[in-house]
Parts: sequence; structure tokens; C-alpha cells
Amino acid sequence: MTVSGRPRQADAGTGLVDRYGRVATDLRVSLTDRCNLRCAYCMPAEGLDWLPKPELLTDDEIVRLAGIGVTMLGIREIRFTGGEPLLRRGLAGIIGAVTALEPRPKTMLTTNAIGLERMARQLAESGLDRINISLDTLRPERFSQITRRHRLDDVLAGVHAANAAGLRPVKINTVLLRDVNDDEAPELLDFAVEHGLELRFIEQMPLDAQHAWRRENMVSSEEILAALSKRFTLTPDPAERGGAPAETWLVDGGPAKVGVIASVTRPFCGACDRTRLTADGQIRNCLFARTENDLRTPLRSGASDAEIAELWRTAMWGKLPGHGINDPTFLQPERPMSAIGG
Ligand code: 5AD
Ligand code: SF4
Repeated sequence: MTVSGRPRQADAGTGLVDRYGRVATDLRVSLTDRCNLRCAYCMPAEGLDWLPKPELLTDDEIVRLAGIGVTMLGIREIRFTGGEPLLRRGLAGIIGAVTALEPRPKTMLTTNAIGLERMARQLAESGLDRINISLDTLRPERFSQITRRHRLDDVLAGVHAANAAGLRPVKINTVLLRDVNDDEAPELLDFAVEHGLELRFIEQMPLDAQHAWRRENMVSSEEILAALSKRFTLTPDPAERGGAPAETWLVDGGPAKVGVIASVTRPFCGACDRTRLTADGQIRNCLFARTENDLRTPLRSGASDAEIAELWRTAMWGKLPGHGINDPTFLQPERPMSAIGG
């Protein structure tokens, strides 16, 4: 703290603080911007211009940056995302190397679960601690409509394989879309309770590549809770929320829980503890940041760990207080969700 009581930028040896006093301890790494689904709220049917291979960080570069984060900057959790992270061939090796770091970070994966049936056990054996699976519907024809691919069976097989591999509690992320799957919340919760999965609904955010997000089409946390309350008794979860984005409720007295991530209607930016690394080596201090800080260039031109750590601290120091979605001047970031990671 300075004399005026405001925090100042961290000195060497300290963690990833920003000028509002938040500390980032949760690193999200996007391993690829590619995906084998084409969710309509995420990307167009033809896909996007994927990042060229030479621009992607190599497995070794990712592990080095994760190491700097863990050993020098206080990162305690690392979540691998995409695009679709199971498409990254070196995934198990990256997880193995990252969980060998000291102090060992917790590792998580956010995936659409295609191919997970085959990989769940290996990932768990590599040290993966937990998994979040994206699943917006249980109805095959709706699944094909939303994702433009006929892969619901693969996803469900992946969900069960993750449970069997002990990656529990398996969390399910669901985005409800108006007039598409917004009537399915209770059915999804029934399914989750039956299989011991932790279901979380995420309010749709303006991060789609097509820039088609409209507030009036977003199914709000309030609507979701109202729909669930018709079938279930929800009581506030007494467990500490911490920096977690989900507000959770006990279902019919528990132990089953359901969560809602109300990013738009009840932003939690003040408690944010995240820092993000894109597949091409850029630090984003927020999902909605309009600027990025390049770590790939210094990494490839011989910068020391201490120099990279300092660049990372500077990137986080500039984090804005909130995402501003609710401001009239809000501008969507250039990178879509699929190239940032969830
Ligand atoms: N708003 C909210 N969630 C989104 N996801 C993808 N795009 C959006 C968006 N615009 C979800 C996916 C997945 C996770 C990575 O984020 O459904 O569960
Ligand atoms: Fe792929 Fe996820 Fe985007 Fe769907 S939402 S297309 S699974 S990156």
C-alpha cells in the first residue's frame, strides 16, 4: 500500500495483483482455438479462421509459462480450455508436467466431451483433478440444432467416462437459449441429480464470433431459477462462494446442488481471481479485455523467467474493474469466446 492507501503495482516477488486489490490465482489456458462442434451461439457453421500453427505456443512453452505462474506468481489452479482442448494432442503430457510443479496446482478441464470416453482415464492418471463438460440439451435433435453436429451420444459417453474415471464432481455447463432449449432446465437438473453431476447454468454473454448476442434473447438467472423452482425446492448453499462465479443452491435439501453463473445480470468482477493465456501466448486480464499482453514474443527471444513474470504482472495490473456489459458504451472484444477459453 502507498501512503494514500491505494495499492501500487506489485514488486518483483509478489503475485498478480491489480490496482483494485484483486489477486489472480486461477490461470485459464486456451490450448487451441479449434473445435469439433459449431455451437450456434459461439461460431458460424463454416468455423473461423483458425490460428496458424507457428503462432500457437508449443507444449513446452505452455509448461514453462505455467511454471512461471505457479512458482513465481502465486497461481494455484490451472484450467485448460479451448476451443476444444481434447483436440490438443499433447494434453495429457501438459497436465502431467503441470501437476509435477511445486506447489502442485489444481488442474481442471473445460471440454465438450467429444472423445472423452477414450481419454478420461488417461487424463485422470496424468493428474487432472476435475472436469467441466458443456451440455446444453439431452435431446438429440436439439443437440444437432445447437451444435450443428450429431454427437450427443459421444458427449453422454464422455460424461459417464469422466464419472467412472473419478473426475468427480463432474460439472455440467449449460447455456439456455430462448425458444431453443429454455424449457429444458428441469429435465437437465433431473439428469444431473440422477447421475451425481453438478449442473450450472451460464447466462449467455456477448462473446460470440458473429456478434449476434442480444440482451432480450439471453435467458436470465432469474428466469432459470423461476423455472427450476416449479419442480424443485432450492435453498441457498451454505458453502462459501469465494471467488467462484456460480451461485449455488441445494436441490430438495441436498446434497445435490445446482449453480447459476449470472455473469450479465449479477456480475462478480469484484471477486475475480482469473488470468488468461490464449493459445497464441497472449495474456488477457479479463474475458472482455480489449487489449492483450504478448508473452510469446519475449518467450521466443530469450527473455528470462523473471522478465516474463514482470510482463505478466504488468498485464494484470491494468485489469479494469468490471466487464461493462451493462454500460451503453460496451464494446465486445475482438477475440470470440472460442479463442479465449471459458
Ligand atoms: N456465453 C456464455 N457461455 C458460453 N459458452 C460459450 N460461449 C458462451 C457465451 N457466449 C460456454 C460453453 C462452455 C463454456 C466454455 O462456455 O457452452 O460450456
Ligand atoms: Fe466448441 Fe464450445 Fe464453441 Fe461449442 S461453445 S463451438 S463446444 S468452443
